[in-house]
Amino acid sequence: MEKILVLDFGGQYNQLIARRVRENHVYAEIKPFNKITPEQIRAAGYSGIIFTGGPNSVYDPTSPHYDPAVLALGIPILGICYGAQLMAYMAGGTVVSAESGSEYGKTVVCTDGSVLWQDVPERSVCWMSHTDHVETPPKGFRVIAHTDKCPCAAMCDEKRKLYAVQFHPEVTHTEFGKDMLKNFLYGVCGCKGEWKMDDFVERSIEKYREKLAGKKVLLALSGGVDSSVAAVLLHRAIGKNLTCVFVDHGLLRKGEGDFVEKTFREGFNMNLIRVNAEERFLSKLAGVTEPEQKRKIIGEEFIRVFEDEAKKLGKIHVLVQGTIYPDVIESGAGDASTIKSHHNVGGLPDRIAFDEIVEPLRDLFKDEVREVGTKLGIPRELVWRQPFPGPGLAVRIVGRITREKLDKLRQADAIFREELEKAKVQSSQYFAVMTDLRSVGVMGDARTYGETIVLRAVTTDDFMTAEWTQLPYEVLGRASSRITNEVKGISRVVYDVTSKPPATVEWE
Ligand code: XMP
Repeated sequence: MEKILVLDFGGQYNQLIARRVRENHVYAEIKPFNKITPEQIRAAGYSGIIFTGGPNSVYDPTSPHYDPAVLALGIPILGICYGAQLMAYMAGGTVVSAESGSEYGKTVVCTDGSVLWQDVPERSVCWMSHTDHVETPPKGFRVIAHTDKCPCAAMCDEKRKLYAVQFHPEVTHTEFGKDMLKNFLYGVCGCKGEWKMDDFVERSIEKYREKLAGKKVLLALSGGVDSSVAAVLLHRAIGKNLTCVFVDHGLLRKGEGDFVEKTFREGFNMNLIRVNAEERFLSKLAGVTEPEQKRKIIGEEFIRVFEDEAKKLGKIHVLVQGTIYPDVIESGAGDASTIKSHHNVGGLPDRIAFDEIVEPLRDLFKDEVREVGTKLGIPRELVWRQPFPGPGLAVRIVGRITREKLDKLRQADAIFREELEKAKVQSSQYFAVMTDLRSVGVMGDARTYGETIVLRAVTTDDFMTAEWTQLPYEVLGRASSRITNEVKGISRVVYDVTSKPPATVEWE
């Protein structure tokens, strides 16, 4: 299958570049620049290479450099931002660093005569973010775009199929960025567009039907998008040889456990074991207030419950994990400092004997996983569900976790979600939080001293940063009065108006 290498020099948009390539139906994979040699690139049979951006300056001795032999492989290359400067530097051009030449934000770019600009007007808006720029293009290159401040905003050597752009075609602020990438893939690299989710589904089913024939396969189903899609895909391949274990830790939202069970047992007719482990989790969590400790306890207990179930099933040949491509990239790209230890059901049990792990989604981005889910007929509300933390409502209860608090939170959360959905408000994630704060209120003629619920709603693309959603006052008002009326013991409702950073999305 045709594929593109995204050679990573540390830029912030690297995953976005790969996603944009795949949106054009060409498979793309990301590799750190120091993990692959030109020889390995040649052997892997890539149709093209994209050098990503990066925060450095090419003349800085500590900046990431690459073996110039890559330019002579005969494989088309597109350099973006730092990648463009690096290409110029490697091929013998010059790069200058000038504060006065720096550009940031939307900038008008004038393009001129290249296959890269097919269907792109001569003047359009691009996204710039640089201080350095190419001063003299290397021998054999010609300038094919400029801006007011940047005399070489793009250059190419058609003979060697080397192209470079100073701006970022992968971000949506570049009006015709999609066309430019498409032109590189189809016009320069000669790709045909073989990466299609229909094919992926069919290919995977075929592959696992063969590979897992006669084997006993186990999957930890969380009800989240990834494990659900992995489950349905494998079920199509091997049917009743797949057993899904759904650990209900009692920290789920209202009605969620039943919904998951109904969807998979009745909707898909799968072998499903639902383990009602509320008691087990709540007793382990009793009295615990520290957020990281809660996460650790839940993560560990998950694995122990899962192991206990697996043992009852006898010999397991294969364990399935819902790992997706960003997990793979992140685990290979060094450690980002841990802000919160995100727990997913993925943590590997060490006491189950199994021969093999299968990760059917490890090449896919989240939006591709959703597309696969839709093609497999998984209900929309499951495929498009909001992220829900593995530790569940435990990290939405500040302080001690009790069954009473969980019940109150579940009710308040359901009301808030219902009101937002009724009003068709656009928000990426919304939920209620139970604080450990009590305040004085009045109900009828009596004084109350009840608990405080926080409502949280955020708008974001990637959950790395997020804006608090500006909800209409009427919606907030309706949610607040319903919560104080319908949920016993809640006497105050507040709305969280903090973005991320400085806050995180979850309260714990
Ligand atoms: P934060 O709170 O870190 O959340 O700003 C960012 C996104 O991640 C989700 N989240 C988690 N997901 N396990 C998960 O699987 C976790 O422990 C966890 N903590 C936060 C959160 O809901 C938001 O979408």
